[in-house]
Amino acid sequence: MSGLEGRVAIVTGGARGIGATYVRALHAEGAHVVITDILADQGEALAEELGADAAPGAGRASFCELDVTDEEAWDRAVAETLERFGAVDVLVNNAGMANAAPIEHFTLAKWNTVLAVNLTGTFLGCRAVVPAMKAAGRGSIVNVSSVEGLRGSERLHGYTATKFGVRGLTKSLAVELGRDGIRVNSIHPGFIETEMTTRIDPARLLIPLGRPGAPADLAGALVFLAGDASAYVTGAEIVVDGGMTTGIPHT
Ligand code: NAI
Repeated sequence: MSGLEGRVAIVTGGARGIGATYVRALHAEGAHVVITDILADQGEALAEELGADAAPGAGRASFCELDVTDEEAWDRAVAETLERFGAVDVLVNNAGMANAAPIEHFTLAKWNTVLAVNLTGTFLGCRAVVPAMKAAGRGSIVNVSSVEGLRGSERLHGYTATKFGVRGLTKSLAVELGRDGIRVNSIHPGFIETEMTTRIDPARLLIPLGRPGAPADLAGALVFLAGDASAYVTGAEIVVDGGMTTGIPHT
């Protein structure tokens, strides 16, 4: 149904959290998945659980250590994927981090760190896979933004700037790459319970659907954007936030 059977996907930050859910969802649809992350132990363990195999072409999951801020590591990851599976059909730019401080205390180091991972990392990933996608005449890139790419959030200055940036980069790429058969869309999760959000109390959030999100809540949107059901969708923003950015329910 999704058309993902036999397709090859790279997922960044795929070792844990929402990224691991994306990995599992793509794998369940029959895709070959290259899990990438800086967390080697967790990434290897997930690949093993999904049936990694050392021989090229065998198994449908593998792990490749990749810091998304490292330009050369991107070239290596794409080359390894092409060698092992022969294509890059899908890229999910999911790796991300958050830091927070009032603006007077938001250091340049904090700003540069979050920009490097969330925005530059996404740019490098898109740039690295485009030659293979152009050669194949098809591809789907899913960039992970956030509800913080749609509105402001106090103290999250760098994070918010990167997630708006990811949304903008998605639009320029969608326009430029459409004629090559490459679609580029963004996904905007709301509050999802992962390691990233452990310090936030969901009871304080007013969510129309009445509960915080779980990583599994993102799987359907990701499979839609990665696969053929969205064949005529590019430059779109899919918001998966339980209605959080739609309005505030009366309590
Ligand atoms: P998480 O912290 O559990 O996972 C982030 C993953 O990215 C980790 O596996 C981490 O090792 C990896 N990562 C961090 N820096 C990296 C680097 N330099 N190179 C490669 N990998 C790196 O967080 P979560 O919640 O799973 O977040 C995944 C994505 O979803 C992020 O882009 C985040 O901004 C976004 N998101 C999360 C929301 C939430 O409520 N949890 C809401 C909206 C967006």
